[in-house]
Amino acid sequence: MEDIDSFLFKFKGYYFLRPGLDIGFLETLNDFEIREDDVFIVTYPKSGTIWFQQILNLIYFDEHRKSTGNLETVFRVPYFEYPSQNTDFVKRPSPRLFTTHLPYYLVPSGLKNKKAKIIYVYRNPKDVMCSYFHFSKKMPLPAASTIEEFMKLFLEGKVLGSLWFDHIKGWHEHKSLFNIEFMMYEEFKKDLRGSMLKVCKFLGKELSDEDMDTVVGQAMFENMKLDPRANYDNILKDQFGIQEKGHFLRKGTIGDWKNYMTVEQNERFDKIFQKNMKDFPLKFIWDMNEE
Ligand code: PPS
Repeated sequence: MEDIDSFLFKFKGYYFLRPGLDIGFLETLNDFEIREDDVFIVTYPKSGTIWFQQILNLIYFDEHRKSTGNLETVFRVPYFEYPSQNTDFVKRPSPRLFTTHLPYYLVPSGLKNKKAKIIYVYRNPKDVMCSYFHFSKKMPLPAASTIEEFMKLFLEGKVLGSLWFDHIKGWHEHKSLFNIEFMMYEEFKKDLRGSMLKVCKFLGKELSDEDMDTVVGQAMFENMKLDPRANYDNILKDQFGIQEKGHFLRKGTIGDWKNYMTVEQNERFDKIFQKNMKDFPLKFIWDMNEE
């Protein structure tokens, strides 16, 4: 297991990715001026972030939908807490779309006027953990050679995003402060079109049937994996020198955790989950065949 401090930086109790971090910007997050038509996707890492970046991109940008524009998704729906040197958020035209892994207590206080929209995407934490286990091995992140070691890091919150339980519970317990909608990764997986209609309704966007067909088609895992604007293979190559493809879009399934966790690990995880999530009202889907 590697030293987490060489990859992560703890700021106000939350672990950020150290490379490329602008601590000066983090200090100003609370006062960042929010516009009424800003839209934020909030996720704990490995919960469907780039999927929702692609979904928003397809809903909002005609040229993305029609594939006449080549801009990579991450530049249209950028990470809020990791602004690249070339991005001046203040100059971006409205509506501004953002992605963030921030916990509820670090987002700009302007989001509390309940005008800007927040979509919180969540996924069952066993699949999150397994996705994270694979991803960490390739990225400048605390990694582990076995799922057992990684489970320890994950359940202690010694990963980018800190503790999964704190992230989801924090956002959900404070949901009345925000204009927020909780959306489940697994529901999108099971009914992409129906879920897409819910997103559009929340965002106040109406798409023609033809546009909706395109959005649904391009948001499907198999198609997104082939879309160089959306699969981030180029970003991994340019920023981290990683040549191998398919790290962000690995399997995109429900229940892959069963291929990695032993019966004993699963039982141990369940006990910790139940202890932490007792009385938590949102449901989770752990298996593709589950309703
Ligand atoms: S990150 O690093 O936090 O931005 O990762 P994130 O994008 O949140 O999560 C990556 C997982 O999301 C899966 N994914 C998808 N699943 C279904 N359909 C689509 N279109 C899709 N796009 C991304 C991706 O495959 C990762 O999950 P795993 O289980 O590793 O495959």
